[in-house]
Amino acid sequence: MKPEVLVVTPMPGGSQTAIEQEFTARKLWLAEDPAAAIAQWAPGIRGIATTGFIGADARLIGALPKLEIIACFGVGVDLVDLNAAKARGVIVTNTPDVLTDCVADLALALLLATARRICAADRFVRSGGWNTGTFPLTGKVSGSTCGIIGLGRIGAAIAKRAAAFGMPILYHGPRPKADVSYRYCADLAAMARDSDFLVVACPGGPATQNLVNARILQALGPQGTLINISRGSVVDEPALVAALQDRSLGAAGLDVFASEPKVPAALFGLDNVVLLPHIGSGTNETRNAMGDLTVANLRAHFAGKPVPTRVA
Ligand code: 8YV
Repeated sequence: MKPEVLVVTPMPGGSQTAIEQEFTARKLWLAEDPAAAIAQWAPGIRGIATTGFIGADARLIGALPKLEIIACFGVGVDLVDLNAAKARGVIVTNTPDVLTDCVADLALALLLATARRICAADRFVRSGGWNTGTFPLTGKVSGSTCGIIGLGRIGAAIAKRAAAFGMPILYHGPRPKADVSYRYCADLAAMARDSDFLVVACPGGPATQNLVNARILQALGPQGTLINISRGSVVDEPALVAALQDRSLGAAGLDVFASEPKVPAALFGLDNVVLLPHIGSGTNETRNAMGDLTVANLRAHFAGKPVPTRVA
């Protein structure tokens, strides 16, 4: 008997095929009435394959009495109720490392695009603006200071890339890292004051909720730029919108938002923002590797082996 796995949304290419071959896949996205389908499948479900966007809440975990593992496609597990999983002894896995490069690449792309106003310049050419004028000058990236919130795997990869642009690196987190030469800043507001670019790369969830609040944005200031490739929840979004509107914050490059896919409409009219639809890990190579790792975790668990990338 193949283990039954609730698959909340299709996994990329080969990993979806593998899930269907190796497990009895209960495809939630095809169910007309998801709640009724879960109730019907509940007695047999031993695993969940979910994503960082969808997660697994306490209600879902509570509804599946035989649940043993939640395999999350994505590194951020802030939408998986880790306490509910722990209370039931349910293993949670994620997909670290395989996405680090692509997310860090996108952070630099967003930083450059925001600073050099790449999207606005592209619109300027397309709309014929160049025939009648020149594009306004922008700010220099190389040599400016980059403050990183969260020097984990992704934060460190961003630091490496930014350092290659000659940017002095500062970082903030719960504690200094032992093996790092960048300057640690225990005080986030002070780091924001000293940074030209403040890059959010820490995990989402209750511990970092609204960490970047109005005070931090004011410290970053009218010459400063906020880049967020982590989670919208880390930034007080209404405060960010207000600071961009009154220009007390210079600019922002955002790949993530508080209530995706909803983006505050007030941002659409602003020329000091670059807005992306949460595509940090969104390359074929990386999404396939994430899918493979999600399946590898399920496979190992149901073969009685230790899972490769356990979160909790
Ligand atoms: C994914 C992400 O797009 O890994 C994460 O935490 O935010 C992204 O890589 C997302 O989790 C996929 O659902």
